[in-house]
Amino acid sequence: MSARLIDGKALSQSIKETLKGEAAKFESAYGRKVGLAVIKVGANPASEVYVRNKIKSCEEVGVKSFSYNLPEETEESALIELIDALNGDGNVDGILVQLPLPKGLNEKKILARISPEKDADGFHAVNAGGLLLGLPCTKPCTPAGIIELIKSTGTEIAGKNAVVIGRSNIVGKPAAILLLSENATVTICHSKTVDLASIAKNADILVAAVGIKEFVTGDMIKEGAVVIDVGMNRCDGKLYGDVNFAEACEKAAYITPVPGGVGPMTVTMLIKNAIESAFRCKKS
Ligand code: GUN
Repeated sequence: MSARLIDGKALSQSIKETLKGEAAKFESAYGRKVGLAVIKVGANPASEVYVRNKIKSCEEVGVKSFSYNLPEETEESALIELIDALNGDGNVDGILVQLPLPKGLNEKKILARISPEKDADGFHAVNAGGLLLGLPCTKPCTPAGIIELIKSTGTEIAGKNAVVIGRSNIVGKPAAILLLSENATVTICHSKTVDLASIAKNADILVAAVGIKEFVTGDMIKEGAVVIDVGMNRCDGKLYGDVNFAEACEKAAYITPVPGGVGPMTVTMLIKNAIESAFRCKKS
């Protein structure tokens, strides 16, 4: 089989067209743009790229970004103070703190400080709990993007075996919950999983979010599977996924490229979350 590419860039462009309309509606109804605060601490090279893309997408869609680039040595109290101010700022509808944070900053404490209503990443415990319980909540961006990418292939998720490799709070766990809520039969694999290859091989939908370059090889993929590669592994100036792309193409029916698959969708779902938060806040 020669896999078809799932074009995350094209899908994200078409969603952004719809979001543009929503952002314009908000602006004409409330006399200001939807506002998204983007906080970066330190100079992690990957974060620089991600944050730049997030700000660029805000501009494309007509969302106002408030960008904060804080030095590596920022005190936790200063970051908390900034978050408190943004929580209370009527022009800011969404807040995100780019991860990872420099050592010495307590990530859990900082994410918990963002008001759940303005939590554009969907990382706050209130939103994570809402996801688990099936309550209305802000969904984390990468997992939400993964579901859109799978649906864009026309694949029915209900009843399928979905295997998620990786159990991070940002991707693996919430992706598994979203797939479960779409009625897939879900297995989560991780570093202690015994015979991961044979579990992966049973997947109709395989999500690789392990953070290891080309971890998933062709022999781990079921013929005709949908393969979603969340990996962003930089090596010698080149970007590699968690899936060996050439081998996977021989087996999968559909596969996301790296770059140009999951990445653009993460950014677009973030903007969507900010716009939804803005409308929700006005309604409540
Ligand atoms: N670092 C890697 N992915 C993400 C993300 O989706 N949001 C934030 N805030 N940080 C990240």
